[in-house]
Amino acid sequence: MDPNRLNGKNILITGAARGMGAANAESFAAQGANVCLGDLSLEEAQDVADRINAAGNGKAIAVKMDVTKREDNAAAVAATVEAFGSINVGLFNAGLNKPRFFMDIDEDNWDMIMNVNTKAMWLGMQETARQMIAQGPQEKPYKLINVGSIASRKPLVDVTVYCTSKYGCLALTECGALGLAEHNITVNGYAPGVVVTPLWEQLDKDLVEIGFKERAGQAYDDIVENNLVIKRVSYPKDVVGTASFLASDDSDYMTGQMISIDGGWVTK
Ligand SMILES: NC(=O)c1ccc[n+]([C@@H]2O[C@H](COP(=O)([O-])OP(=O)(O)OC[C@H]3O[C@@H](n4cnc5c(N)ncnc54)[C@H](O)[C@@H]3O)[C@@H](O)[C@H]2O)c1
Repeated sequence: MDPNRLNGKNILITGAARGMGAANAESFAAQGANVCLGDLSLEEAQDVADRINAAGNGKAIAVKMDVTKREDNAAAVAATVEAFGSINVGLFNAGLNKPRFFMDIDEDNWDMIMNVNTKAMWLGMQETARQMIAQGPQEKPYKLINVGSIASRKPLVDVTVYCTSKYGCLALTECGALGLAEHNITVNGYAPGVVVTPLWEQLDKDLVEIGFKERAGQAYDDIVENNLVIKRVSYPKDVVGTASFLASDDSDYMTGQMISIDGGWVTK
């Protein structure tokens, strides 16, 4: 790993206390970036920040935020600027899932998933872009990175609302790229498949609970067998390289793109 690849990048990451958000925070900082870790769970985010600061390359702070609240997004951006002087990159990663068959979806399920996965992405992008625009033009583009999913492109029978929310993330990436280009802000994203994280561990249990799967772990096995070209599930370490690429100068001539990192699922 090049310890200088992300030197000079000040990056806000939402949902950074666990899973892929935490892995990306550690990976970015190991490449020289300063990172602000926003999460509902301040304690866990602070633990990750402490590990990063002990490792001694890029610096880290942790902030408590509820991504569904505009004022929390604005405060997280302000904290990033106060700690590091500016913000160059925003990674909108916070997300959740709660499976339901179509006729079992209710307003609570809809609102919870759409608010965290989609509305909050829009709020985070807007508040981050507001600060980038206020900072004025810079030679290199500012970057917004959105976390989509295989569910941004494939309909899945057990997670209609999650699919709706993640198709929305793809739309925010493409429309955001158009809407923010005049400010030298690029918008890209990546779309994982099955990543072993606390989110998927909970989903695995929930799929048994709603009767879609019979036993714990069956969802992993079925997806590997039926959907994946590369015959294994993935781990946060499988996504950090693509996220780093999108945060780095190497992706300067890209915008409006969502890169699949899903073991080939999207092609099947
Ligand atoms: N795990 C997968 O298989 C998978 C696949 C495709 C896409 N994704 C997406 O990747 C992203 C990260 O997922 P993960 O698997 O690492 O999840 P995770 O559950 O391990 O981590 C998500 C983090 O988001 C935080 N969060 C949730 N709601 C929040 C809120 N309102 N405000 C602030 N923070 C909040 C949680 O506290 C948690 O730390 C999500 O957007 C998810 O939809 C995950």
